[in-house]
Amino acid sequence: MGRRSRHAQGAGRGVKDRKPETRLVEAGRRAEWTQGLVNPAVWRASTILFDSVAELNAANPPRDGTLHYGRNGTPTTWALCEALTEMEPGAAMTRLYPSGAAAVAGALLAVLEAGDELLMVDSAYGPTRALCDGVLKRFGVRTTYYDPMIGAGIHALIGEKTRAVFLESPGTHTFEVQDVPAICAAAKARGLVTLIDNTWATPLFFPAIAAGIDLSILACTKYIGGHADLMLGSVTATAAVAPRLEQARRVMGQAGSSDEAWLALRGLRTLDVRLRRHEENGLKVARWLKDQPQVARVLHPALPDCPGHEIWKRDFKGATGLFSVVLAGGDAAARDRLVDALELFGIGYSWGGYESLALPGEFVRTATRPDFEGPLVRFHIGLENPDDLIADLAAALAGYGKSE
Ligand SMILES: Cc1ncc(COP(=O)(O)O)c(C=O)c1O
Repeated sequence: MGRRSRHAQGAGRGVKDRKPETRLVEAGRRAEWTQGLVNPAVWRASTILFDSVAELNAANPPRDGTLHYGRNGTPTTWALCEALTEMEPGAAMTRLYPSGAAAVAGALLAVLEAGDELLMVDSAYGPTRALCDGVLKRFGVRTTYYDPMIGAGIHALIGEKTRAVFLESPGTHTFEVQDVPAICAAAKARGLVTLIDNTWATPLFFPAIAAGIDLSILACTKYIGGHADLMLGSVTATAAVAPRLEQARRVMGQAGSSDEAWLALRGLRTLDVRLRRHEENGLKVARWLKDQPQVARVLHPALPDCPGHEIWKRDFKGATGLFSVVLAGGDAAARDRLVDALELFGIGYSWGGYESLALPGEFVRTATRPDFEGPLVRFHIGLENPDDLIADLAAALAGYGKSE
């Protein structure tokens, strides 16, 4: 236990001064939470017992670092929250939710009220759209969808009742990279709150709060966990919106479990090496796919054919392993047969685990039309040898367009 003090709160120069890869390893490992272990244990709790009523009263109001009640955190969840906050320079706080979808809902419900208008990117994740068109509408919030490539032009959509702008970059299935700093600057000039679903890049490849975002949302289910075996969401907030986020979270009873937080924390420590390999493998496969006659277009933020590629080059520190392919000709049935023919690619929802996946790309648009025709397949490129993935794709593509 002699070296515990190295990770004591406030010891040394502090995690904030270190480079992102070092912060991934160090952040959240306070000695009082790890008790001399490398990782904090899984603290499962509902009731916390106090020695006296005076001690119970002293734990109020609930705050990170003081045991209060299970829903308000344990050393396991605080460690993850602190680590995610450290990964977003400019952030004040992180809160956990039982899934990424719950984190999106928790963040939006924290900042919106009846009569407000929300500007929502047209390329948003399907359940995010469904939240807007269902629950938020029922509670009197109007959603206006906007072109993901709008950039500073968002200012023309801001009206008297506009309260918040939601971004997701790159977009689900179609991968448009948004001009986050320009949108945030326009929103800030009118006093709006900005939220982003930053799940694709993670704060390692795109520190969103430093780019002007107020609430940065992650489905930790994907790359933070990294092993397709947990469900968890997070919202990281600036000091200005943190109290509102926490108040809404607490009264809506949202919390991430300690078991899921422990797994996510374990995944977080290797995020850098995993993402670099996802990037390398993904680019190798994407570049190969681009040259195949059965492929019309590859929508990968790091390739020039992707809308917003120049913005990706300007703002991002890397690309992850998720991208889409527009097939040349054929229809949805032929596309589905292609996906079925793959042997190394799992067919299933979600992404960000160590394994490769293929999914028919279906999406809804109401404000814009994507500038391509043809069926879409979304690929998640995992940590397999990319040459094996390419051989599998070559075999399946050889049969593309040939009827059953
Ligand atoms: C971009 C994006 N955001 C949020 C989510 C929701 O995350 P979860 O599945 O943890 O609810 C997903 C899930 O696929 C996603 O792709």
